[in-house]
Amino acid sequence: MKVGGEHFRTIWLKPGNERVVQLIDQRFLPHRFVIEDVSTVTQMATAIRDMHVRGAGLIGASAGYGMYLAVLEAGQTGGPSRTRRISAEEFDTHLANAAAQLKATRPTAVNLSWAVERVLNAIAGETPAATEIQKKVEIALRTATAIAEQDAEHCRMIGQHGLNLIEQIARTKNGKQINVLTHCNAGWLAFVDYGSALAPVYAAHDRGLPVHVWVDETRPRSQGSKLTAWELGQHGVPHTIIADSAGGHLMQRGEVDLVIVGSDRTTRTGDVANKIGTYLKALAAQDNGVPFYVALPSSSFDWTMRDGSEIPIEERGAEELKHAEGWRDGETVEVRIAPEDSPAANYGFDVTPRRLVTGLITERGVCKADEKSILELFADHAS
Ligand code: MRU
Repeated sequence: MKVGGEHFRTIWLKPGNERVVQLIDQRFLPHRFVIEDVSTVTQMATAIRDMHVRGAGLIGASAGYGMYLAVLEAGQTGGPSRTRRISAEEFDTHLANAAAQLKATRPTAVNLSWAVERVLNAIAGETPAATEIQKKVEIALRTATAIAEQDAEHCRMIGQHGLNLIEQIARTKNGKQINVLTHCNAGWLAFVDYGSALAPVYAAHDRGLPVHVWVDETRPRSQGSKLTAWELGQHGVPHTIIADSAGGHLMQRGEVDLVIVGSDRTTRTGDVANKIGTYLKALAAQDNGVPFYVALPSSSFDWTMRDGSEIPIEERGAEELKHAEGWRDGETVEVRIAPEDSPAANYGFDVTPRRLVTGLITERGVCKADEKSILELFADHAS
C-alpha cells in the first residue's frame, strides 16, 4: 500500500543486507513514520511483544523472519570467524530456544506458532546434516519469504471476494454511500500488505464505489484511531473515527450497512477471536439485522480447535488502560487518566460465537461460519 505516494509493505529484507529485516515501527504512527532494523531473534521477539508490529498476519510474517534470523545466529556460533563448527545438538537447541522465545511473545494470534512451525519443518525436512548451516539459512529465508508473500497474496484475494459483497450492497443503495464499520486495525498494517477486513474496502474504493468506514477507536491501544484511520487516510478512503461504544447507536439509526472485522484466531467450527469489543459489535449487528463478516486468511484458522472457549486470551498490563498516549510539540507524551490506586483488568481479545457471524471472507471465497462450510473451502484440513 502507499505511504505518501510511495509503495510500502510492513516488513521486508534490508536492501543490500539480507541479514537485517526492516519493519514499520507502528508505535510511532500516526505521528511519525519510523523504520526499524531488526537483526537478532531477541530484537524480533521484542518487536512482537511490545507491539512495534502487531496484527495476526504481520505477527506471523515477523515470526517467520525471526526464525530466519535464528538460523543466521546459529551460523555465528563459535564467533563471527566461525573458528568452530556448530554441532547438530547445539543447532537444534538454539532453534528450539528461538522458537520458544518467539512463541511466548503473544498468545492469541495463531499465525505466530503457525509461522514458527513452518520454518522449523522446512529446515528439518531438507537437510540431513545439521551442520550444513548455509543450506539451512537459504531454506529458512525462502520459507520466511514465502510466508510473507502468501500473506500478501491471500489478503489481496480476500479483497476480491469481499468486494463482491460490497458490490451487492451498493446495488441496493442507488449510488448512496456504503457505510462499513470496522474494529481495531485489520488493514495492511496488520498484515504484510492489503489487510483482511480493509482489503474489500480498498478494492471497493479503487473500483469507484462510494465507501465510507466507521472506525472504532479501539481502546486501550487505539489501533483504530491511530492505525486504521491513518492507513485509510493514506489511501484516500473516507472514514470517521467513533468511540468504541458508538457502533450500536449507528446501527439503530441505519447508518451501518455492514460490519467487517479481522480475526486473530478462528476455530475450525467458526468461533472467532478478535480484538476486545468485537463480540459486542456482533451482538448489536444481530439485533439490528446488519451483516457481520469476519475476514481472515487461512493462516488464522486453528484447525486443532473446536470451541472458542479454548482460545488463549491475552491479558496485558493495567498501565495501558490507566494511561493515554498522545502527541504534543513533536514528541509522544503519556498521561495517567485513572485514579492511581484503582486496579484495572486489560483483556486483549474476546470470542464471537459462530451463531453471530454472517460469513467468513477467506482467500478461497466466502463461507458460513460453521465447520461443514469452512471445510468445503478447505478440504485439505478435513482430517
Ligand atoms: O493487539 P493487536 O493490535 O495485535 O490486535 C490484533 C489485531 O490486529 C486485531 O484483533 C485484528 O482485528 C485482527 S488481526 C488482523
